[in-house]
Amino acid sequence: MECPRNTKFHIPFVFFFMISLVVTTISNPVFAKGPCNFPAIFNFGASNSDTGGYSVSMKALKPPYGETYFHRPAGRYSDGRIILDFIAQNFGLPYLSPYLDSLGSNFSTGANFGTAGSTIQPQSSYLVVGYVFSPFSLDVQYNQFINFIPRTKFFREQGGIFATLMPQEEYFSKALYTFDIGQNDLTASLFSLRPIKQIKDSIPDTMKKFTANVKNIYNLGGRSFWIHSTGPLGCHSSFLSYNPFGERDEYGCIKEINEICKYFNLNLKEALAQLRKDLPNAAITYVDIYSAKYSLFQDPKKYGFEDPQVACCGYGGKYNFNLMVECGNTMKINGTEISAGSCGKASVRVMWDGTHYTEAANKVIFDKISSGAFTDPPIPLNMACLRSLDT
Ligand SMILES: *[C@@H]1O[C@H](CO)[C@@H](O)[C@H](O)[C@H]1NC(C)=O
Ligand SMILES: *[C@@H]1O[C@H](CO)[C@@H](O)[C@H](O)[C@H]1NC(C)=O
Repeated sequence: MECPRNTKFHIPFVFFFMISLVVTTISNPVFAKGPCNFPAIFNFGASNSDTGGYSVSMKALKPPYGETYFHRPAGRYSDGRIILDFIAQNFGLPYLSPYLDSLGSNFSTGANFGTAGSTIQPQSSYLVVGYVFSPFSLDVQYNQFINFIPRTKFFREQGGIFATLMPQEEYFSKALYTFDIGQNDLTASLFSLRPIKQIKDSIPDTMKKFTANVKNIYNLGGRSFWIHSTGPLGCHSSFLSYNPFGERDEYGCIKEINEICKYFNLNLKEALAQLRKDLPNAAITYVDIYSAKYSLFQDPKKYGFEDPQVACCGYGGKYNFNLMVECGNTMKINGTEISAGSCGKASVRVMWDGTHYTEAANKVIFDKISSGAFTDPPIPLNMACLRSLDT
């Protein structure tokens, strides 16, 4: 750059100033914050997005959970990070502390109200054929959130060390609200062996309950909602092991179960379209997790995976899954100690414990959904504060 002699100190200074402006502006995309710049995340959900809530309040996970990334069971139903971890990381935020964790938690950039086994509809029984549900249903998670807001204000105003662990007041309106719940409502219905028609007929009611909770969070200030649909349960080792006669599709998944999941998701998508009309100031993004996950079973090789339906951590049978000896547990069968351990190659597997995905699979799913190719409207994660891309 040529500078006239008389301004040789001036111009470089202005130039430097402009450069630093440019650098500051582009440094957001560098940290992938995008135009929305979410300072916090509040999550509501079940095991797919649990970062330790169930483990600290009900039953702790055992090794080899967490073996790949945290090198200890870190309350996640995976060998490593889950999709929510990748979402937090994408915005340059620390992994979310579980709301229920009284030890070492830091809520300054959000909180996770999700716990494994949570449902939209509270379950009358927490145990259905050996499958354990969580007492922390979506209603309960919402109640925790209602109390959370004024309590964080109280501690912020007190100052001191606890104030540094609280989110800023304006974060509640600026945050990204993520949801991944409903899979266990379906599981509860399917394991209770209700007729398919009855299961389908119960879905609209479940949707009403779900959208009522989203509306309530909106009324408390939430504006940006990122809502995951439910996955293809018919491809999971757990369902495949317990429904050996169900008709399979071309990729080896149980047709009828996946049909129900798709029906659930269609209802969710429609309910969210209505909600978008009811809440004109909210950005509500429907995330087609089903298709993102299903593609791993359709074309595992493309992503470097093998045996997509076989659990990496488990015991026995075609799918390495047995509800009596789940991942990390041991059991005496006919005098012989049986243990469900890791396959030692989670990085090339899709299913971790038969119900949940490996970190490697979660990363592929995250890359797909964050791009905007699996969302309605087609908004990438970084723009999830927008109602549409043309505004
Ligand atoms: C809590 O997290 C925030 C954001 O990461 C950090 O700045 C703060 O120092 C943390 N507080 C403590 C006590 O670790
Ligand atoms: C345990 O032994 C019984 C009797 O021999 C047999 O029927 C059963 O299949 C065995 N169970 C397992 C899990 O091997």
